[in-house]
Amino acid sequence: MLAVLIVILAVLRAAAPSVSLKGSTSMDRLQNVTQTISRVLEGYDIRLRPNFGGDPLYVGMDLTIASFDSISEVNMDYTITMYLNQYWKDERLAFSSNDEVLTLSGDFAEKIWVPDTFFANDKNSFLHDVTERNKLVRLNGDGSITYGMRFTTTLACMMDLHYYPLDNQNCTVEIESYGYTVMDVVMYWKDPKDGKQQDGPDLDDGPVRGVHKAELPQFTIIGYETNDRKERLATGIYQRLSLSFRLQRNIGYFVFQTYLPSILIVMLSWVSFWINHEATSARVALGITTVLTMTTISTGVRSSLPRISYVKAIDIYLVMCFVFVFAALLEYAAVNYTYWGARAKKKSHKDKQDEKAAAATVSSKDCFSLTSNTRDSLEAAEPPPSPLPYLRNQGGGGAGAGGLMPVTSPDPSLSPAAFPPSFRIARASYAVPGGHGGLRLRGPRGGPSHPHRPRVLHALKKGASALKQSLPRIRDVNIIDKYSRIVFPMSFVLFNAIYWIFYVVVAG
Ligand SMILES: *[C@@H]1O[C@H](CO)[C@@H](O)[C@H](O)[C@H]1NC(C)=O
Ligand SMILES: *[C@@H]1O[C@H](CO)[C@@H](O)[C@H](O)[C@H]1NC(C)=O
Repeated sequence: MLAVLIVILAVLRAAAPSVSLKGSTSMDRLQNVTQTISRVLEGYDIRLRPNFGGDPLYVGMDLTIASFDSISEVNMDYTITMYLNQYWKDERLAFSSNDEVLTLSGDFAEKIWVPDTFFANDKNSFLHDVTERNKLVRLNGDGSITYGMRFTTTLACMMDLHYYPLDNQNCTVEIESYGYTVMDVVMYWKDPKDGKQQDGPDLDDGPVRGVHKAELPQFTIIGYETNDRKERLATGIYQRLSLSFRLQRNIGYFVFQTYLPSILIVMLSWVSFWINHEATSARVALGITTVLTMTTISTGVRSSLPRISYVKAIDIYLVMCFVFVFAALLEYAAVNYTYWGARAKKKSHKDKQDEKAAAATVSSKDCFSLTSNTRDSLEAAEPPPSPLPYLRNQGGGGAGAGGLMPVTSPDPSLSPAAFPPSFRIARASYAVPGGHGGLRLRGPRGGPSHPHRPRVLHALKKGASALKQSLPRIRDVNIIDKYSRIVFPMSFVLFNAIYWIFYVVVAG
């Protein structure tokens, strides 16, 4: 029993010193560092930059792109998340001559002088603070400091949208000291290659890393470059570092969202040329639908762009597509007018011949007197209170009877001649399908030219008819369609060729 106790005591005795020794060295180190930091900060003036009054302080920068978050054409900015590291040397903080490194909490940065770096084109930024503020301070024995942080920033990027969406953009990150001119602080891009050895080839070498891994849905980053220059401002000359990204817009989205639908809509409008010209409702509906669809497509495109006044590449395309679609609709108007105009002329010609035959049966004197009477009352232009009784009469009596009725009508107030011209025309067109009465009223021989008719009007009418004579006569309206079937696609292909060659060559 005693022996066992002795053994246990001996074991405890043997174990105790080693435990206490280990604890004391770790405690010593801790105390040593605490003391070191306290000693270093003793009398430290946070308000003064390192090397105050002497040579400028060199502050190295490097940054790593964590992600490209978005680009907005409407706001003319882009958002990126990055790690920014700043390196400088503060001799007041040197604590040992060997390569000792202390990684301290981010709060330590509040106790020492740090550069007042800012982004000249920053609109809005925030430091991430989950779970703690994303900051680090690393203090080297010789007083070198690494100060890192992670944040998201929205930076202004004025974009030139003349070639949108076939454009390239150049967006920059501008880093500068807010208060210290080049006399106090000089910033430079810190190349990690200086000092340290490289373990192997790395694509992202240099002061900027992570660009190759960053991805954007709408753009491809085709390159970046770092620059530094001196910026002359009202308060002095500052060193400015800038990083610029060259971004190429991915056309794929616009091909499927805008170009292809527009091309298809324009092609759809050509379908009209293969539809019989008498199918008025089909061809007009097709024309109007395509015009409206083009309007909808351009509205959609415009909603994702700022209200810039200059013409963009996409505007030219959409406007041209609109013009093509509109021209197809106008083509139908031309076909329809040519057809019905020719028919009406033919009909009136035929009617005139019929008229002559009819004139043989009816007393020609009676007819003539009525005609001149008609003209006179027309010029007098005293519209009656209501034309309805007459129209009703005509409708009820049938076209033939209605047409003949005015000839025999004894009541002058009911005579068609008493109505304003518009009614006369309407009445005449009613009468055409039924018989010859209506046309007879207009006077086959026209009577003598009226002296009161303004001469200018007469001359104009003459000129118009002369012009009409000079235009080529189209015998078959299908010829217009036939030509359109070739001319429209050809000119659209030509337009596309010019457009794409121009923009791909100029923008590329
Ligand atoms: C403790 O501090 C002294 C100088 O103050 C130094 O020489 C020594 O190496 C330090 N010890 C440790 C464990 O850091
Ligand atoms: C972006 O534009 C600036 C000048 O505005 C120029 O210095 C820089 O080289 C351009 N960047 C690229 C990648 O072309």
